Amino acid sequence: MTQQIRPAQSLSGTLDLPADKSISHRSVMFASLHDGTSTITNFSDAADPHSTIACMRDLGVAIQEDGDKIVVEGVGRSGLVDPNEPLNCGNSGTTMRLLSGIIGGAGVSATLIGDESLSARTMKRIIEPLMKMGVTIDARDDDYAPLHISRSNPLKSLHFPLPIPSAQLKSCVLLAGLFGDDETEVIETLPSRDHTERLLNLLISNEGDKKIIQSSKENDIPEQSYRIPNDFSAAAFWLVAGAIHPYAEIVMPNVGMNPTRTGALDILQTMGADITIENRHKEGAEPVADVTVRSSDIRPIEITEEVVPNCIDELPILTVAMLFADGTSRISGAEELRHKETDRLAAMAEVLEKAGADFTEHEDGFEIDGNPDFVPESAIYNSYHDHRIAMSAAVLSLMANKSSQITHAECTAISYPSFWDDVTLLTN
Ligand code: S3P
Repeated sequence: MTQQIRPAQSLSGTLDLPADKSISHRSVMFASLHDGTSTITNFSDAADPHSTIACMRDLGVAIQEDGDKIVVEGVGRSGLVDPNEPLNCGNSGTTMRLLSGIIGGAGVSATLIGDESLSARTMKRIIEPLMKMGVTIDARDDDYAPLHISRSNPLKSLHFPLPIPSAQLKSCVLLAGLFGDDETEVIETLPSRDHTERLLNLLISNEGDKKIIQSSKENDIPEQSYRIPNDFSAAAFWLVAGAIHPYAEIVMPNVGMNPTRTGALDILQTMGADITIENRHKEGAEPVADVTVRSSDIRPIEITEEVVPNCIDELPILTVAMLFADGTSRISGAEELRHKETDRLAAMAEVLEKAGADFTEHEDGFEIDGNPDFVPESAIYNSYHDHRIAMSAAVLSLMANKSSQITHAECTAISYPSFWDDVTLLTN
């Protein structure tokens, strides 16, 4: 489906954003490993977390869905069964990487498959540590799905300094570690999202600037009954849209405020965006608040390697903000974006080019010359079937003089099924 986007005269309204995707995945996985029933509310209606539900069902877990509520009959660590069919992770890297840790740790035999995009994404980063732990993994070219996972030897613990600041990799190893007799330790230098540690209540200690996170079969896997916060990564599109549009006020209640996720909030506030945070409270282990953004004059910014993990999924939309800042902004240390659902640096470079922006693409980021009076060209933007590229191009298109089009617009359902309805809500 190609979606037409008309320029927005104004952006105003209150949005009921989708539930957090990262937490939704984890809630159903961890509830499955808990010995007993969990009731999770505000579970995401997006495609990726439903891939996780389908996989957990294939692993023998009973999961009832009732609107945004799911009830998971956890089977405990030893209750997962070998699935009869390959586990289909769809488009979801989080499903494939975290589940590989669970399956390898539990000693289940399973094959994990994904769609074309996921089958082209590297899995070596999880294959190497899991094999060191005694898991057998047979992968295409030793790197890509399908992954055939089994384990005939006892699980070995691992002391694992993270080679890249990836929450999926960290979580994969810690989840496998949950099945081991001895402590598995993951050493983190640059903090990435910490939902796994929070929701499993894992032991964390600090050594200088390093964080050591431990897991073993001594860890109790807690019941996962809570309300999932709305997704900060969805809010980020509107934080940028509201800040750059001259007539905007957008209210977003119940947004997840986990500091390992809200790097883009800090960045936008440093740029001068008028963002108000109210009603801070907690939903289970996660902080939540109501967020309002209003039209703002924004300054340029430099985003460097240390902050990249905390805004990794928001970098595409932050490039859109940079186009409207009064001066030159830079992103460096973001090479990892080339390994997402698509090469997001290349895909955004194409969007910026078509919009008529003044920028340079680097191997690990961008330099962008912004201008508060910038008016994007109307164009046909290629989303490359990537939800975050489609939504970034859509926000940019709201600022144009004439209508633009976004290809494969249905891909927003991966994380934000109501995105196009929300565009209509805010612009009418
Ligand atoms: C995620 C971690 C990040 C992020 C992805 C979700 C998670 O990936 O980009 O959208 O839920 O753990 P990496 O671990 O590859 O950085």
